[in-house]
Amino acid sequence: MNELDSLVASAQTLFAQSATPAELENAKAQFLGKSGRITELMKGLAALSVEDKKTRGAVINQAKQAIEAALNQRRQDLADAELQAQLKAEALDVTLPGRARANGGLHPVSLTLERIEAIFGSMGFEVADGPEIETDWFNFTALNTPEDHPARSMHDTFYVEGGHLLRTHTSPMQIRHAVQHVKRYRQQIDAGQGMPEIRVIAPGRTYRVDSDATHSPMFHQCEGLWIGENVSFKDLKVVFTDFCRTFFESDDLVLRFRPSFFPFTEPSAEIDIQFASGPLAGRWLEVAGSGQVHPNVVRNMGLDPERFIGFAFGMGPDRLTMLRYGVNDLRLFFDGDIRFLRQFQ
Ligand code: DAH
Repeated sequence: MNELDSLVASAQTLFAQSATPAELENAKAQFLGKSGRITELMKGLAALSVEDKKTRGAVINQAKQAIEAALNQRRQDLADAELQAQLKAEALDVTLPGRARANGGLHPVSLTLERIEAIFGSMGFEVADGPEIETDWFNFTALNTPEDHPARSMHDTFYVEGGHLLRTHTSPMQIRHAVQHVKRYRQQIDAGQGMPEIRVIAPGRTYRVDSDATHSPMFHQCEGLWIGENVSFKDLKVVFTDFCRTFFESDDLVLRFRPSFFPFTEPSAEIDIQFASGPLAGRWLEVAGSGQVHPNVVRNMGLDPERFIGFAFGMGPDRLTMLRYGVNDLRLFFDGDIRFLRQFQ
């Protein structure tokens, strides 16, 4: 091996032994630096003849190129190794289970309201929404409950400034919705052409001064109203029976319409249900008030009670929720204890 070959070989060895880029750069300096071995050899060319310079120069250049090639190769190898080490250190374990996001959910009473809306929706009922702060007119007077009516005493509520009150039931929505509907078809009605039937439910929050295991000062109701020229009590029975059986997923559930009194209906009936099986089997459970809409109320809707007849009902979604899930204290629903509420998801 001549002198230059062994120089190249020793450079290759030294480069291979350099474990870091810094060590490699130091090794490089020994050969290609200002006073490196190759540089020194180049300087030596000055003393040679032109002919010798050519041949000797070419040989040194070859050696230089070989050293540079070895250097670049080693640089690349070190960079690759560093990248591999980094990739290994920062590796992601894609088999780790993901971090779960806490899911929110609907309140059990909201689930009931959605269920009521879906069932009545499938029977052609619209859903209406209205104010919780009501006027005396819509909450009482328009519903055939004038100021001195004894039925008002069962509806003690919270009064706000300006003679407004927190509605004690969703029944004011009967008037509000019917008045809007009638307004839209006024000309048609006056021309004797009738109107599309009113078929609506109005779920929402209601208020009374009341608080025990089965009463909360804020509670929910869902009103139902069906007005047309050819509606009968039979229709109410069919619709409400269908609703209850679908809601409780029980085809052998029985309904009882028990005579009762409400100022805004005549005749009036309380609707009781009875389960054929389960923990409540055999017991009659009250779920709604109902009746044929009183002529005075029909008049307050802007309709002629001689021509238009209808049925209304008002039920308690909170009660339905308690029955559906077997909960016996209404207050649990509104205490806001997440451990209780989570069970309904
Ligand atoms: N509004 C009544 C209440 O809160 C319930 C009710 C009874 C609603 C009879 C009606 C009805 O629409 O026809 O006690």
